[in-house]
Amino acid sequence: MFKRATKSQIKLRLALVGISGGGKTYSALSIASHLGKSIAVIDTEHGSASKYADLFQFDTCELSSFHPQNYIDAINAASGNYDVLIVDSLSHAWIGKDGALEQVDRIAKRSPSSNTFAAWRDVTPLHNQLVEAMLLCQSHLIVTMRSKTEYVMEEYEDKGRKKTRPAKVGLAPIQRDGLEYEFDVVGDMDKDNNLIVTKSRCPDLVGRVINKPGKDLAYCLRAWMGEPWLVWKSEADAIAWAAAQLPEMPIEELRQEFDNLPASNGKKAPVWVERVAVLKEPF
Ligand SMILES: Nc1ncnc2c1ncn2[C@@H]1O[C@H](COP(=O)(O)OP(=O)(O)O)[C@@H](O)[C@H]1O
Ligand SMILES: [Mg+2]
Repeated sequence: MFKRATKSQIKLRLALVGISGGGKTYSALSIASHLGKSIAVIDTEHGSASKYADLFQFDTCELSSFHPQNYIDAINAASGNYDVLIVDSLSHAWIGKDGALEQVDRIAKRSPSSNTFAAWRDVTPLHNQLVEAMLLCQSHLIVTMRSKTEYVMEEYEDKGRKKTRPAKVGLAPIQRDGLEYEFDVVGDMDKDNNLIVTKSRCPDLVGRVINKPGKDLAYCLRAWMGEPWLVWKSEADAIAWAAAQLPEMPIEELRQEFDNLPASNGKKAPVWVERVAVLKEPF
C-alpha cells in the first residue's frame, strides 16, 4: 500500500506571471525543452505559442472557449502522455470567454435575485476541479498567467538630466486570489524578460532574478526534483553536496567513499546519490 517517497516522483508545478511581452510563452517553452523530451501546449492566445514552433518542438491544442471544463479535459488528455504540459494562459479560464467570471454572471442573470454570491456556489467547485486536475497532472506543469498591468513613473538620465517616463509593471496574476499557493515555484516576468522568483519550494531559487530563463533554470529545478548532479561542476561539488547531508561524517571519509565507488555505465553521480542515501540510513 505504501512505497518509499522519492523525489523522482515529483512533478513540477511552475507558474510564470507577467505582462504581455514579459516572456511567459518563450520562457515556458525554453524551460520545458530542458525538462523533458515531449511537450504539449494548451494555447489560448490564437496560436501565439506556434510563433516559436521553429525553435521548440511541441504539440498544441488551441482552445476557443475558455470554460474551465475545457481546460480540465485538455489537461487530463495530456497528463502522463507528455513529459511537460504548458498551459498558456490560465488567466483565460478566469476572465476569458466562457471563463469562471462569465459563468458566474450567466448563472446570476438566470436567478431571480441576480445574486452572484449564490452563483459562486456553482462555479467554485468547477474552479476547484481545475486546480485539482493541475495538481494531479502526471506531467511537469508550467502555467502562465497574465498580470494586471499598471504604469509607474520611472526616472532615467538623458544627456546628464534626470527625466521621468512611464514604465509598465506587472501586478497580481489574473486568476482567483491565492492560486499561487498551489505552485512549487512562482515568478513574475518583467519587460526585460527577467524572471523574479516570488515563491519557491526549491531552496536554490528563493529570491533569484533570472534573465531569459531556460536551461539553467530547468536544470536547477531538475536538481531539486532528484537529479542533484545536474548542477555539479566538479567532484568537489559532489562531495560538498554529500557533506551538507552528512554533517557528522569527516570530509576525508566522504572523499574516500567517493573514490572507492565504481561508476555505473560510465556515470558516477547517480550511484553517488544512492550511496549517500545508504550512508544516511545505515540500518
Ligand atoms: N527566456 C527567454 N529567452 C530568450 N528570449 C526571450 C525569453 N523570454 C522572452 N524572450 C524574448 O521576448 C519576446 C516576447 O516573449 P513572449 O514569451 O512571447 O512574451 P509573453 O508570452 O509574455 O507575451 C520573445 O519573442 C523573445 O524574443
Ligand atoms: Mg504569450
